[in-house]
Amino acid sequence: MPSDPQHLAQVRAALPAVRQYAYLNAGTCGPLPQPSIDAMAAAAHDQAIHGRIRMEVLLHDERQRVTELRAAFARALGADADEIALARNTTDGINTAVWGQPWRAGEEVVVTDLEHEGGVMPVYLAVKKFGLKLRTLRLLDADPADYPGIVAAELSDNSRLLVISHVSWANGALVPLKEVVVAAHAKGCRVAVDAAQSAGAVPLDLHDIGVDYYAAPGQKWLCGPEGIGALYVRRDEQERLSPTYTGFFALAMEENPHPWDCFGHMELAPDARRYESSSIYLPGMHGMLASLRWLEEEVGWDWALARTAELHRHARQSLSALPMLKVFTPQAAAGLLHFTLPDGVDVEQINDALVQRGIRIRTIPHMNCLRVSTGFWNTEAEIDELASTLREFLA
Ligand SMILES: Cc1ncc(COP(=O)(O)O)c(C=O)c1O
Repeated sequence: MPSDPQHLAQVRAALPAVRQYAYLNAGTCGPLPQPSIDAMAAAAHDQAIHGRIRMEVLLHDERQRVTELRAAFARALGADADEIALARNTTDGINTAVWGQPWRAGEEVVVTDLEHEGGVMPVYLAVKKFGLKLRTLRLLDADPADYPGIVAAELSDNSRLLVISHVSWANGALVPLKEVVVAAHAKGCRVAVDAAQSAGAVPLDLHDIGVDYYAAPGQKWLCGPEGIGALYVRRDEQERLSPTYTGFFALAMEENPHPWDCFGHMELAPDARRYESSSIYLPGMHGMLASLRWLEEEVGWDWALARTAELHRHARQSLSALPMLKVFTPQAAAGLLHFTLPDGVDVEQINDALVQRGIRIRTIPHMNCLRVSTGFWNTEAEIDELASTLREFLA
């Protein structure tokens, strides 16, 4: 029952930041739950006291925790743990997916006009360094239902990799990913997904979707800290996609006590661990695991996802009722809703004024618009307050 007020109250009680603001900007960073805050504080304190030199803790407890974290990410994404590499963030994962391709000069890499820097910048660099051709699909003005048809029509036999967001940060469109993947695969083109606005915001079963690579951040809809995320690499892609960065985390440590030497021997992990490289900030890792456990065990994914969708519908209704706003997010959407203001009204100024009232949304500068993120922790009253405040400012 998505609107269960008692459950909502419990969830909100665990999120200190949602008590400070109308917290409507998970698209930038989600609120940290108390168990995650406590886990990070305890781990940072433990490091300070013990000096980070207890090998028995590093090699046993922390390694075990990293294994648990990969498994927790896998459950959140609808994948298996051996298909998950820990990454620093979305952009890190996209870099790995782009740079690890066996590129040959002249091959084509494809992006869309809905992408973030995190999707296009790794591609642009690869275009320069490998001599690739770039193709950009125009999706911004199309209906999401037509995206698979556009992919089928626009990709060429030379297209090798499509980089696309599952949910666009620019207009909030929810991409029909399974159909897009089918269309791309039919052209022999693999698909790397920017999951910054989808992981934790939409139900996910990556095996069913059939995608090749899926790069998710921890800090947004998964309510974790910055600096940690996950890259899904489909099992049967792992021999083909070569690691770009590497180091001792990528070795087959669990399988072989001596997986390397200084004479050219290096045995990579037989699974997605091969895309990891080296030491990570352990308090962040503790916090991420606590966030994912909280989402799974305390919040409940079904409730959270249904509630995010319900609040999105409420926001669409509430803001569409204001004649001076133009909501332009397509009906196929997840947790993001975008709207423009009347001509001549400065979006930054309105956003600053909202902040003064304790309402946190954000501007998307290149679209000259405002964006509301509806997280499962929000209330209808917060959204109505946003609408009435905008009505007042724009009267
Ligand atoms: C669609 C999209 N991709 C990538 C990013 C960058 O995310 P990260 O910091 O996890 O690389 C963001 C947000 O900042 C985003 O909205």
